[in-house]
Amino acid sequence: MNQKVTFKNLLSTSQLTHDDISLLINDANTYKKNAKQNQIKNSKILASLFFEPSTRTRFSFESAIIKLGGNYINLEQADTSSISKGESLEDMGRVMSDYSDIIVLRHPDIDSMKLFTKYTTVPVINAGNGSLEHPTQTLIDLMTIYEHHQRLSNLTIGFWGDLKYSRTVNSLVQSLSRYNDNSFHFIATPDFQISPTTQDILNKSNCPFSTIANLDSFLDQLDVLYVTRTQTERFSKTASTYLNPLTKKELTNISESCIILHPLPRVNEMSTDIDTLDQAHYFKQSQNGLFMRMALLNNLLQ
Ligand code: CP
Repeated sequence: MNQKVTFKNLLSTSQLTHDDISLLINDANTYKKNAKQNQIKNSKILASLFFEPSTRTRFSFESAIIKLGGNYINLEQADTSSISKGESLEDMGRVMSDYSDIIVLRHPDIDSMKLFTKYTTVPVINAGNGSLEHPTQTLIDLMTIYEHHQRLSNLTIGFWGDLKYSRTVNSLVQSLSRYNDNSFHFIATPDFQISPTTQDILNKSNCPFSTIANLDSFLDQLDVLYVTRTQTERFSKTASTYLNPLTKKELTNISESCIILHPLPRVNEMSTDIDTLDQAHYFKQSQNGLFMRMALLNNLLQ
């Protein structure tokens, strides 16, 4: 395994090698066991720039840099930066490189990362660009899957909900397709099925998958059930058909060894009675976010 990650900016899961993922999971687990902290000089500054709302990603990054010994500056609201006066993302990236040592950016446009990093001189981490990618959520998802199954290959994974607009689904499917012998079931209404682009990627990787509208026929075969909310902020609500909310009753036949993941926030797609199942791992998943982001910041700031 390599001792350093192979990327400077983390903009897409396509940059993550198997060794990068193993290294980061290993480091994140070390932080989780409370074995190492305060590794970064207190002069190191994280710029936390969120042009979309966030609870987990923003606060876990800000908490992670403090736990490591550094500090942060942030954008509380998009309209408090000079972007609201018409400044370009290219110029903002250039300027913020002078004020910080690492930048975390969330933005609704899928092209934002490419524009922002045109002139940046410090590492930039994609914290979500529109419906395209959310690579740090994928690292957390992979860490949580590995924690339970001790492998990232030979898995059967079901994805349930809005698979079309979900950047976390898009990023995780692409990552898991690069491991051997993984197969996928995509459970969604036609309005929210996985994109043709992602289906092409799976076909090129020879990954078996099905697109279907209910869970029943293979629920007992799943190693992971990944649930996601409808991303109502990304489309017009008219004429869309949704799945009925997932309840504990529908999960009666779930395998004992399956884990249920959800990137959160959840809204009304999943009833809270599922929280009582041993298979519910989504709060462990959000807890892992802090440790994975500590691992990532420490690696990129060394
Ligand atoms: N999973 C996730 O990205 O959550 P937030 O939108 O709260 O950051």
